[in-house]
Amino acid sequence: MQIVCGIITVSDRASAGDYKDLGGPALKEVAQKNCWQVLCEAVIPDDAARIQETIRSFSKQGCGLILVTGGTGIGPRDVTPEAIRGIMRVELPGFGEVMRAESMKITPNAILSRNLAAVVDDSLVIALPGKPSGAVECLGFVAGAIPHGVAVAQRQPTSC
Ligand code: MTE
Repeated sequence: MQIVCGIITVSDRASAGDYKDLGGPALKEVAQKNCWQVLCEAVIPDDAARIQETIRSFSKQGCGLILVTGGTGIGPRDVTPEAIRGIMRVELPGFGEVMRAESMKITPNAILSRNLAAVVDDSLVIALPGKPSGAVECLGFVAGAIPHGVAVAQRQPTSC
């Protein structure tokens, strides 16, 4: 099954052009290495309504997997988890648990992250930290479950 993927960078500063988005391109490289087709990309501010409408739009365009980087911490503008929870059908707590547990072996700051995965419409949405290396690390910890997770989210017949 070809996985069609969307990548969203959530950052006030990157979306304003104050600095270059590095998280989106880092995730794109991982997607391409996994032979996932990257169909949609966006850099948007830390705004819940924008996050929700971008996820919904990517889902409608056919992205079975939507990777979101940024806004998972505890800053006053960090609203990515709340935005996703506001539109999800179900949350998949195991993704957040594994990302935090594995990341704690790399940095104690990982406990500050509110990474999560959820099913929104027919897409698997994974919220990763904003730091590019952290986003890539976290994606690596859960990548093994992505093909089956996307198939189930898309209601495709699966072998188990
Ligand atoms: N997870 C991994 N694997 N590697 C990291 O470097 N950084 C942490 C954490 N998770 C990190 C990580 C830090 S410093 C923060 S503040 C939180 O993710 C949230 O990041 P965000 O607010 O940029 O999304």
